[in-house]
Amino acid sequence: MERWRGKFALVTGSSAGIGFAITEGLVRARINVFACARNVASLEELTASLPSNSGTIYPLKVDLSKEEQIKSIFQTIQTRCGHVDILVNNVVNCLSGGLDGQASDDWRLMLEEDNVQTGHIININSAEWDPSYVGLNFCGATKEMTSALTKALRYELLQKKSKIRVTSIRPGLVASRSVQELLKDDQLTGHEDSPALNCQDVADGVLYVLSVPEKVVITELSFEAH
Ligand SMILES: NC(=O)c1ccc[n+]([C@@H]2O[C@H](COP(=O)([O-])OP(=O)(O)OC[C@H]3O[C@@H](n4cnc5c(N)ncnc54)[C@H](OP(=O)(O)O)[C@@H]3O)[C@@H](O)[C@H]2O)c1
Repeated sequence: MERWRGKFALVTGSSAGIGFAITEGLVRARINVFACARNVASLEELTASLPSNSGTIYPLKVDLSKEEQIKSIFQTIQTRCGHVDILVNNVVNCLSGGLDGQASDDWRLMLEEDNVQTGHIININSAEWDPSYVGLNFCGATKEMTSALTKALRYELLQKKSKIRVTSIRPGLVASRSVQELLKDDQLTGHEDSPALNCQDVADGVLYVLSVPEKVVITELSFEAH
């Protein structure tokens, strides 16, 4: 992780669940994180609890379903540090307008930034879809699409001889806030006792992907609770 110390990351959906665990993992690894969500109180609390040698958290209060607010993130980043070195698309389905570089000029600008030599884009997708998780069926369908988009993005960047790496993280069921709420609302009937990963397990996966030698790129990382 040495080479990422002091660099900048952007994590979407970072106030709770998987995104929160990833944000904490990155700042503890001394990476500075632009952390976005609609509610940022938990990120302010996290900042107060971190050791002094951690990276800095820059909480950004934004609704990622709004194109204008996505643009404001990139404006903030450009003003503060030019670009990010690591981008973790944790709420990928909210970012469909930006991911493919067609709806948002700012997104394209970031990918085409000439001086981004060691960038890494990590998309939090999900394990192969199982429709018996009925309460997550819509989400599962969007994940199939974002897995395909991740592959397409990797291909397009390679065609351009870009050095930016792209990884798809594909966890099985994770006991995050949203899954606990779905279980409470009986929307995951039949899966009440299914084994689930912790958010921390997914964050560890992200840190692992970033920690391999520079000549290696992990294109896809799939894992589930055992
Ligand atoms: N949980 C699972 O079993 C599982 C398995 C595989 C993959 N995944 C994927 O992992 C990712 C995170 O899931 P999770 O289970 O950790 O979800 P979660 O616990 O519900 O957390 C979602 C995060 O996204 C933020 N968010 C949601 N909508 C937003 C919006 N419009 N604008 C800005 N921020 C928004 C939420 O913060 P605010 O409410 O403060 O905005 C929160 O920080 C998702 O892409 C999910 O599909 C989850």
